[in-house]
Amino acid sequence: MSDEDIKIHRGLNNVYFDRTKTTYINGKEGVLEYRGYNIHDLSEKSSFEEVSYLLLYGKLPTKNELDAFNKSLKESREIPSKIIDIIRSIKESHPMDVLRTAVSALSAFDEEASDKSYDATMRKGIRLTSQVPTIVMAHNAIRGGKDPIEPSKELSHAANFIYMLDGEIPSDSTASLMDKDFIVHADHGSNASAFAARVCAGTQADLHSAITTGISVLSGPSHGGAAENVMKMVKEVGSPENAKDYVKNLQKSGERVMGFGHRVYKAEDPRAAQLQEGVKFLSQEKGDPSWYEILVAVMDAMKPYQRRGIHANVDFFAGVIYHLLGIPTDLFVPIFAVGRIPGWTIQVLEQYKNNILLRPLLSYTGEHQQEYIPIENRK
Ligand code: SDX
Repeated sequence: MSDEDIKIHRGLNNVYFDRTKTTYINGKEGVLEYRGYNIHDLSEKSSFEEVSYLLLYGKLPTKNELDAFNKSLKESREIPSKIIDIIRSIKESHPMDVLRTAVSALSAFDEEASDKSYDATMRKGIRLTSQVPTIVMAHNAIRGGKDPIEPSKELSHAANFIYMLDGEIPSDSTASLMDKDFIVHADHGSNASAFAARVCAGTQADLHSAITTGISVLSGPSHGGAAENVMKMVKEVGSPENAKDYVKNLQKSGERVMGFGHRVYKAEDPRAAQLQEGVKFLSQEKGDPSWYEILVAVMDAMKPYQRRGIHANVDFFAGVIYHLLGIPTDLFVPIFAVGRIPGWTIQVLEQYKNNILLRPLLSYTGEHQQEYIPIENRK
């Protein structure tokens, strides 16, 4: 078949490659559901632990089930001392590179690493959900010349994450906002990093390999890297009055406005709405409304883009939340990974359950029948 007869789907845009019962996204209406539960209900009424259970097991847990799940999460927060040594040896690297390396190395200390059974994969997914926050915060302490703070065995997932930043137990409102952030990041269908994790699982590679792949893909600025760039953008804008001109200059230079646009959402990303409430509240609580005001001004300046289906996405508000929580900017993408571990895990489990090698085609448009010329005769 010649190239002219072939329909190319660049970026696999609008291509369905399988079926799923985990996450539903209606990009036109701006709807997101995990296992049929609307993200607004889950963000406002649930917890990251309960949502992780829902994603992994396909149903909301009973109290006993949630207590047992919570217990296994809390018991899995430690990381081997040799992983701390590895983190020390690469402490100057970007936190996403350290996270990718440490998760990959963790497989050497997990006796179930090569076991791809459902139960072992589930247990590893739970362990990694708890170990990834510890890796992120251990590196942050080490690069600051401090000893890592031991993860709490009592605090919730979100509260423990903030606690490991500086040893201070966060207020309930702060922990609840971090919890909401993890909920809205927990899964999102076949986004680039989840798709890559599925490709990895499709070859029957193990969960550590698939999640290392997901972390690698998430680090790109077109995907998870956006939250870090939104904060840089907000600092460059500097004041709400500058937002209009700033956006106009970006447009003129053909550059993307970070935190806007989405391959699937052509209406508002429902996760952005949830986080916008959070930024507003946190800005007031911290007595520093300036960052929120700049975000709103950029949103206003971007209004004309809405008719082209370009709206704020999940990363637009997340960065300011982390900044107001005193989290260093280069930890913003690792925080996305912290929330996404249950999502990557269930995507891998779904792939394993009805596995097929994911191997698309490229249409060759190069030369044919080239004559081999010996090197001495080449010009
Ligand atoms: C995430 O897929 C997922 O689900 C991902 C995610 C998840 O939870 O896993 O939701 C998380 O990755 C959110 C996205 C974070 N990235 C950013 O905020 C970076 C900025 N956004 C853009 O790079 C872009 O919107 C993408 C990469 C997110 C999506 O790009 P697409 O779908 O490939 O769209 P495109 O590049 O073809 O753009 C279509 C048009 C173009 O204009 P034309 O060339 O047709 O005239 O929209 C324009 C683009 O120029 N456009 C933007 C824009 N995003 C798209 N213009 C200005 N600013 C932007 N941010």
